[in-house]
Amino acid sequence: MMLKKLLLVCACMALAACGGVDPNSPLGKRQALFKEMLKVSEDLGGMLRGRIPYDEAGFITGAAELDRLSREPWQHFPQVRDDERSKANPEVWERQEQFQKMARDLEQTTAALVQATSAPPLRRSELEPAVQAVEDSCEACHKAFRAY
Ligand code: HEC
Repeated sequence: MMLKKLLLVCACMALAACGGVDPNSPLGKRQALFKEMLKVSEDLGGMLRGRIPYDEAGFITGAAELDRLSREPWQHFPQVRDDERSKANPEVWERQEQFQKMARDLEQTTAALVQATSAPPLRRSELEPAVQAVEDSCEACHKAFRAY
């Protein structure tokens, strides 16, 4: 019994020491989703800006993936602030309505992006503003609700 307790304490200390966030905690889950969202959106932007080769099929898949991901992080923000390592501004919890509104804004922009990829051959003149709108939604919410 004592040994078990001791092991548990050690494990917690190790976790805290390296700043590790439990991947199964709400914070761990939303961080992982945000990172995936960043990767997919950077790939889409990168294809349009020539950083990586443009590939129509890959763009269409990426847009669908981003739309799916954009609906996921919000359920992992608990009712009250959960973790001091969170980079969420306390206003997330003080101005819930506005936070949720900006989450819906992002979902709308990713849905519009999917719409813009629905009839190949795709046109840059349609993809560029759609990706820009998504990036603007990320940035708007981060300005209001993410602490750097
Ligand atoms: C409705 C608000 C909102 C929108 C929209 C939003 N984010 Fe965030 N984002 C946050 C908040 C809040 C955090 C801090 C989460 C935490 O640490 O608890 C965050 C954190 C992040 C992180 C850091 C994750 C980590 O490992 O600490 C990345 C990367 C990120 N967001 C990418 C994006 C991308 C890309 C988009 C758009 C496709 C986006 N976010 C849209 C609110 C938002």
